[in-house]
Amino acid sequence: MRRIDHIGIAVEDLEAALAPYVDGLGMVVDHVEEVPTERVRIAMLPIGDTKLELLEPKDPESAIAKFIERRGPGIHHIAIAVEDVAGSIESLKAAGVRLIDEEPRPGAGGTLVAFAHPKGFNGVLVELDEAVDR
Ligand code: CO
Repeated sequence: MRRIDHIGIAVEDLEAALAPYVDGLGMVVDHVEEVPTERVRIAMLPIGDTKLELLEPKDPESAIAKFIERRGPGIHHIAIAVEDVAGSIESLKAAGVRLIDEEPRPGAGGTLVAFAHPKGFNGVLVELDEAVDR
């Protein structure tokens, strides 16, 4: 059964954005990590069976910086856990769904990820997430 691996939220300032979750809701940060391929710094906040991923841009040219510039901070993507990212890419292609990534690439926390194009999912940016060390 598939599940939501995490929900990605674009933020301008990671520490300031964490405060309402940590100080206000008592949530605990699992880890903070730089993801060089995305030019972001992220914090993972476990919540039940899933996580919130707060993403702070480290570079004005990063996709997250451009998202914030266009639309302001807010929900950026939904990550669906899959067993085989490469296989999911192939089946999305076969279903005629536009992709951003034609090949899996390294993501946060030792995962393999690929993004589908929001046009393929009614405006929702969908990340496919394979835990390679699970
Ligand atoms: Co993500």
